[in-house]
Amino acid sequence: MELLLDTANIQEIKELYDCLVIDGVTTNPTILAKDNIKLENKVKEITAITTEHTPLHVQIISQDFQEIIKEALYIHSLRNNIYVKIPVTKDGLKAIKELKKLGVKVTATAIFTATQGFLAAKAGADYVAPYVNRIDNISGDGVAVVTQLTQILNQYHLPTKVLAASFKNVQQIYDIMKIGVHSITISSDMCKAMYQHPSTDVSILQFYRDWEEAFGITSLK
Ligand code: G3P
Repeated sequence: MELLLDTANIQEIKELYDCLVIDGVTTNPTILAKDNIKLENKVKEITAITTEHTPLHVQIISQDFQEIIKEALYIHSLRNNIYVKIPVTKDGLKAIKELKKLGVKVTATAIFTATQGFLAAKAGADYVAPYVNRIDNISGDGVAVVTQLTQILNQYHLPTKVLAASFKNVQQIYDIMKIGVHSITISSDMCKAMYQHPSTDVSILQFYRDWEEAFGITSLK
């Protein structure tokens, strides 16, 4: 399963790339709007940490077909291995179909139903990104949508990967991991919550104290 970071914060990316195996970075307009930095400079900053081999996902803003294509080609020109994120709408699906003919890598995003994801996969999207927590927030079942979409893509041997996104707790991540999803993208907070545990800290402290009490030193030798 691929693990991507859903952030454009340079310190967060640095910190987690340093200690974990991360398969890419995803952003969206809200994430990028947190820093007042031109998109091409932000892409350069992220690339400096992750290298050009690491997939980077950047979203378009426009909703009209021609404008989506223009923005997508601009994003595509910024770097190798960049995925253009396009929300699944009528114009979005048309743009995905067109961009695939031009060899642009595409992630279909803002997906709330398995049928949206299926149509985006048929249009040629490399990834489809269902929003787990946002689905849960409207009394839906985010895990069920991701499960159904993953099953549909696997069943029809579509090459598109599911990139589950929008997580607000570790249980959602755990439930998604169990179904055999292709990839997930998570915030740095969620990433840290996956490895931090208070009982681990208590155990470490107890080992340390026992050692110190017995040998009077605070290192192994
Ligand atoms: O990047 C898109 C997706 O991750 C949105 O997540 O956390 O804003 O619901 P969130």
